[in-house]
Amino acid sequence: MNALLRTKSIRQVMSQPAEEGHGSGLKRVLGAKDLIALGIGAIIGAGIFATTGTAAAGGGGHVGAGPAIVLSYVLVAIACGFCALCYAEFASVIPIAGSAYTYAYVTLGELAAWIIGWDLILEYAVGNVAVAISWAGYFASFLRGFGIHLSDKVMTATTISLHEGHGFALNLPALGIVLLMTVLLVRGVKESINFNNFVVLVKIVVLLFFVALGFAYVDPSNWHDFAPNGWKGIHQAAAVVFFAYIGFDAVSTAAEETENPEKNLPIGMIGSLVICTLLYIAISLVMTGLAPWNQLGTADPMATALELVQGRPGLSASSLRVLSFSHFVVTIGALFSMTAVLLVFQLGQPRIFFSMARDGLLPRVFAAVHPVYQTPHVTTILTGVLVAVSAAFMDIAIVIDLCNIGTLFAFVIVCAAVMLLRYRDGRKSDSTVRPYDLSANLTVALALLLVFWGFNSPRLSSDQLTAFLCAPVALCVGLAYRGLPLASGRPFTAPFAPLTPMFGIISCVYLMMESPSTTWIRFFVWLVVGLAIYFFYGMSNSVLNHPQPEPGEADVRPGEL
Ligand code: ALA
Repeated sequence: MNALLRTKSIRQVMSQPAEEGHGSGLKRVLGAKDLIALGIGAIIGAGIFATTGTAAAGGGGHVGAGPAIVLSYVLVAIACGFCALCYAEFASVIPIAGSAYTYAYVTLGELAAWIIGWDLILEYAVGNVAVAISWAGYFASFLRGFGIHLSDKVMTATTISLHEGHGFALNLPALGIVLLMTVLLVRGVKESINFNNFVVLVKIVVLLFFVALGFAYVDPSNWHDFAPNGWKGIHQAAAVVFFAYIGFDAVSTAAEETENPEKNLPIGMIGSLVICTLLYIAISLVMTGLAPWNQLGTADPMATALELVQGRPGLSASSLRVLSFSHFVVTIGALFSMTAVLLVFQLGQPRIFFSMARDGLLPRVFAAVHPVYQTPHVTTILTGVLVAVSAAFMDIAIVIDLCNIGTLFAFVIVCAAVMLLRYRDGRKSDSTVRPYDLSANLTVALALLLVFWGFNSPRLSSDQLTAFLCAPVALCVGLAYRGLPLASGRPFTAPFAPLTPMFGIISCVYLMMESPSTTWIRFFVWLVVGLAIYFFYGMSNSVLNHPQPEPGEADVRPGEL
């Protein structure tokens, strides 16, 4: 039991980079603007370019929101805002290139850290499967612009063709782009902030172009009925478009290279979230105004919307030319944006494997560095091949649901961990300041409201499950925080704790509850496989079993990741 709950101290975590040369070479050069650009770079990708379509039209076990998809985007932005504040607090307390995995190791213990590390594979690797499928959709659309049509045998896009009686078929462009990225990353392609700033500029220009031009062709009749499936459609779509916001947490990984991280990290995360939210609202409004919502369920809905407009009778030749040009611009923008997301995520996954291998929870080979290219080639190739093969055969809706549930779970743990860390440090503190009382009392009141909500919700609905699951947690948290002394040395604190992290947990649990039961089953199977690996390997090989010295440390150069 002790093994499962053993934690690393913040000092241990903070000293690791220096011991291993990780932090020593990194200069604190990133300001608030760079971080906002980094956030936008990681956030805008397949989500807006692909999931808006499936979320509006329905599919993969959920009903569509229709044009009310815009409300889904607002709801998710609020949920992510709570989580971003918690991430920002952790990133300022532990300003190393960390992740939810490290935060959990410090607060909740080794088992939780393992679960998070394993779970983050869903965010990074499975997320990349979805981005690759979406990339392929836009690639096929790009080729169609030149009159080249890919056969169904090599471009399955949104469905598993084996199930449709087509015989063997695969998504060749998705397979190809991931393998290409893998080769580039093994050879040592490095993300540079200037390159990222450029990509971000391209993304924003293309999206604004789509909004401005599309606005002129909006047919308001497409917005009636605004919410064809009511609240159910809106919140089920919210669970899907959550994918479009994944990536703001990547800002926290730049903590070591940030000037004044305690000030700039929150600005970077919240700033990028706000900008992306505004863009997403405008795009989803225009997209659903261009074409009937139920025709947008493709892997490339922005391109589909523009194609459908071109099919309208009575368009002038010049309009057709402009639309066909805009279709081209959007497609190029999408391909560009998604290539960048693929790169960032393919870089991130080996970094997580690396941390886990360094802690002994995975075999050391996972932290191997290529002797010539100085990149984590084993994990890069392993991840690349698995992602490429999955992208060749999987359905985008299934993959996005799985990525979302995994990432939401990671966010829940980060929110819980931030409350726990504050509670732990507060208990140790001898401060006489008691700043949390009002929020604690409000959290107790929230618990009562949740109970009320639960009893008034339909039986076993996502509302009821969320309410009854979160009410006891909110009650315990509220009571525990009453009279809690202030912990010293918090450079940035999420405001109104424990209310803010609690809202983060409730909104993420709510979105998780929206996932179809098949996604939950896949998620549980994934966690069970992960737990089996931990109990058979990680628990006994953890470096916390043998604190001194850490074997093979010298072989590993995390600064190269
Ligand atoms: N938010 C990222 C995207 O939409 C994962 O591609």
